[in-house]
Amino acid sequence: MDPRAVGIFDSGAGGLSVLGYFRGFAPRERVVYFADTAYFPYGPRPAAEVRKRSFAVTNRLLASGVKLIIVACNTASAAAIEDLRGAFPVPFVGMVPGVKPAASSSKSGRVAILATPGTLDGELYARVVEEFGGRAAITSVAGTGLAELVERGDAGTPSAQAAVRGALGPAIAAGADTVVLGCTHYHFLTADILAEFPGVSIIDTSQAVARRAVQVLSEADALAPASQEGELDLIVSGDRKQFRRTMARLGFAPAAVEAT
Ligand code: DGL
Repeated sequence: MDPRAVGIFDSGAGGLSVLGYFRGFAPRERVVYFADTAYFPYGPRPAAEVRKRSFAVTNRLLASGVKLIIVACNTASAAAIEDLRGAFPVPFVGMVPGVKPAASSSKSGRVAILATPGTLDGELYARVVEEFGGRAAITSVAGTGLAELVERGDAGTPSAQAAVRGALGPAIAAGADTVVLGCTHYHFLTADILAEFPGVSIIDTSQAVARRAVQVLSEADALAPASQEGELDLIVSGDRKQFRRTMARLGFAPAAVEAT
């Protein structure tokens, strides 16, 4: 048993998808969520810069005494996860686009991977496509502007649906029946994607990543004691009020969040 908190970070609100699942699986765990909104978006930044931010955020989370860190951001996972693992003594659980389940479940054999430019340009993505893409025809789609839209709290609006139509329309018209969400922000666009393209299969790894984090804690005998009350601490590098508004629009009650 280990009473220390788990750290979760993202450039902003995307990682809340993983946080939601994690709290559902492990309600006794204390969580420190770091939203690096002063540097949002990570997607268009050079990998070296995203790596630098990932190290800075990790140092801040370690100062809060966390026992494990979930890199709830595909862009940061692509840029930094191996370096983070090499540099710090805590376990890291990161995001990997769900290419494998998409390639094996697609009926048309055509898969669209929707991710940020940073993720699509990274080695991790190339390796996963190479290793797990199988015979599927894979189209990489840069979700330009989509994470920003979620961060503004505009998921579930006509402008979100128009943006999703613009991004995914060509790949779906070309026969893709499966869409991989390769950015944690896109979880919050699931309903918009389904409204635009009913019947498409969506592969979202945020739940699996949350489950994996619980498994890592359990294997290390580091789950929270049964008597512990789960708490959520929030660190925001940018505008805290704005972030809390976004959280509320995404269904995360601000009242449940303690300021740090
Ligand atoms: N949520 C992040 C990801 O998973 C990045 C969004 C951004 O900052 O561009 O890639």
